[in-house]
Amino acid sequence: MKQKTETLFAVTAPGLESVCAVELAALGMDEIQPEAGGVLFRGGLRELYLANLWLRTASRVLVRFGEFGCRDFPGLYRKAVRLPWGRYLKPGTRLRIRATCRRSRLGHTGRIAETLEQAMEKALGAATQTGCDKEQLLLVTVEDDLCRLSLDSSGALLHRRGYRQDIGAAPLRETLAAGILMLLGWRGETPLFDPMCGSGTFLVEGALLALNRPPGAARTFAFMDWPRYRPGLWQALLMEAQRQGREACPVLAGGDRDPAVLEAARRNADRAGVGHCLILRQAEAGDWIPSVDRPGLAICNPPYGTRLGRGEEKAIGRTLDRLYEKIPRPWQRVFLAADPGPADAMVLPLRRLAALQNGGIRAALLEVT
Ligand SMILES: C[S@@+](CC[C@H](N)C(=O)[O-])C[C@H]1O[C@@H](n2cnc3c(N)ncnc32)[C@H](O)[C@@H]1O
Repeated sequence: MKQKTETLFAVTAPGLESVCAVELAALGMDEIQPEAGGVLFRGGLRELYLANLWLRTASRVLVRFGEFGCRDFPGLYRKAVRLPWGRYLKPGTRLRIRATCRRSRLGHTGRIAETLEQAMEKALGAATQTGCDKEQLLLVTVEDDLCRLSLDSSGALLHRRGYRQDIGAAPLRETLAAGILMLLGWRGETPLFDPMCGSGTFLVEGALLALNRPPGAARTFAFMDWPRYRPGLWQALLMEAQRQGREACPVLAGGDRDPAVLEAARRNADRAGVGHCLILRQAEAGDWIPSVDRPGLAICNPPYGTRLGRGEEKAIGRTLDRLYEKIPRPWQRVFLAADPGPADAMVLPLRRLAALQNGGIRAALLEVT
């Protein structure tokens, strides 16, 4: 890959595109362009590695591998075989192809996948089915007879930082938790309190943000199996990240009524190397507020899900009213809940900050005003 010549795309959940663009700008990326579902940017190997290492809000980083007009399968094969497969894939790689088609003559996604596999085999000059245990994801979109191929450089989704092995009910994705903190402009300088912290996702992501630690430092990525992987460059970026770390952490406090999930939060935080930053206490929401020297952000995501009945939603609404009445005003008081959901039953005045998705359910980020 030549320096600064690739089009890269950071995929995000809906609603997180703008914060991801801010993250990319902070990393010094060029030609940043938010789109629905992610952010385009340009870069070489260094930028590709940096994005995977540092982006807190992206779920994958893709390399735009090929783009060409195409109206029939022989044409698809002819053009695909000329793509630089050998730059990214070793002979023997197993491809997992995810294809979508709209308003195009190539209407058969299964046949698109077969044709591309044949093109790759021909280009790499070796059989591709070798029993290799790793798969390389190739995303293909054909729209208005324009075919776009993108290779996934991340492998496991980027919310899998590696630290969260213990979970409670309905944990937040790490990318969503980090994205919400960033959307709220929380920079790790003021206290963070989650009174329904479950497995501790807001708190651990908050600690990583406050300490300026990269979320991807402890995991592996698909690009590490590519033929031009440069382990020396990766190591240099890890060392650079270590030098950029900060020591000071504000109060990061979590409460939950369930002692088992607090244990899970403790173990997750220890695995992430931030256990020393967290104060955790078993408490009913509203019964315990951590003592702090200045106000900060009080945030939670109360129980939610399609199975919650109207009565349960009302009860959660009452709990949130009681909770946020007890947290004095200079605190910023925010929660993420299903939309529609418990907010409809609340008395406290609310402001809608963002429309998001949580576990495939429409969710709203709401602030008590
Ligand atoms: C949706 S989960 C939070 C998930 C969490 N953000 C995570 O990422 O793991 C909701 C949590 O609220 C806790 N909870 C529910 N009602 C509560 C109450 N009245 N007081 C304290 N905790 C409560 C539950 O035990 C559960 O852990």
